[in-house]
Amino acid sequence: MPAEGRLLVLGAGTMGAQIAQQAALHGVDVALVDVSREQLERGTAQNRRLLEGRVAKGKLDAAEAEAALSRVHASDDLPSIAAECSWAIEAIVEQVDAKRQAFSELDRYLHDEAGIATNSSTIVSSRLASATRRPERVCNMHFFHPVLVMDVCEVVRNPKTSDDTVRDAVEWCARMGRRSVVIEKEIDGFVVNRVLGAASREAFALLTGGFASVGDIDVAVKAGLNWPMGPFQLADFSGLDTVLNVRRDRAGRSTDPGDAAAVELLEKLVGEGRLGRKSGRGFYDWSTTPPTPLPLPLPD
Ligand SMILES: NC(=O)c1ccc[n+]([C@@H]2O[C@H](COP(=O)([O-])OP(=O)(O)OC[C@H]3O[C@@H](n4cnc5c(N)ncnc54)[C@H](O)[C@@H]3O)[C@@H](O)[C@H]2O)c1
Repeated sequence: MPAEGRLLVLGAGTMGAQIAQQAALHGVDVALVDVSREQLERGTAQNRRLLEGRVAKGKLDAAEAEAALSRVHASDDLPSIAAECSWAIEAIVEQVDAKRQAFSELDRYLHDEAGIATNSSTIVSSRLASATRRPERVCNMHFFHPVLVMDVCEVVRNPKTSDDTVRDAVEWCARMGRRSVVIEKEIDGFVVNRVLGAASREAFALLTGGFASVGDIDVAVKAGLNWPMGPFQLADFSGLDTVLNVRRDRAGRSTDPGDAAAVELLEKLVGEGRLGRKSGRGFYDWSTTPPTPLPLPLPD
């Protein structure tokens, strides 16, 4: 089935609402479905704010913004809307059981030839495909936050994904105005989060090993590698509580003492309420321009 017709986005949270809006900005008619009416309203209002912001900055024509907003049809009635859709992107909570249930329902109500992709960052589609009668039509389509800005989507093939499905997923990305990269075999973290994870682990090892300061590591990475942001600024942007969860998960599977040292440091920072940019303080003090590196808590 070529990439045409209506797109279904399941889940109107942080990611789903913007995935739907991104497609609609490129002329795609979208059904945005969520179990929560409140969340649908919140997602729709958020999209309006984002597009109106673009209009105010002269980046988007007001009529185009209205047209794009009207192309997203919010609904909490999956069974009646799914039959009209030719491709689905699932962006609900990050829980395997909930996603398997959602995949089974999508399979029941979508057209037989429709593809089903998950936007999950950590759950590979082979764990969901068996909840459907169409495992060959299932893959990951991993968009990045904020979807309206980040121009890439990782299309990840599972062992049963057909070539046609990969081609269709790539075409849907193009139709939505997003570049795609294909990952031919499932692997934890796909490409972007693996490379980011490796860089971040090394930065923490240099810091906790006393080799260089937060500010100097970030300057070195920005100026020496031409990255827009150093690893500690990025950690502050992501939220140190979130980074701590990711690092704890890794430390639980690792024998590298550097992983435990990173967790210890992050636990202290989070314990002091230093959550990064959202709390105003993390590795940096965000009340100054540019942000200033803060002293680190002393090791035990
Ligand atoms: N937040 C990110 O930065 C980010 C980035 C890339 C990928 N992802 C992935 O995107 C997915 C969604 O993440 P999010 O941050 O948007 O989550 P979120 O919590 O903001 O939104 C999840 C939405 O799913 C809805 N929902 C739950 N169960 C549902 C069901 N059965 N049917 C329909 N809707 C249902 C909830 O009401 C909620 O609106 C996750 O798989 C996550 O791994 C998130």
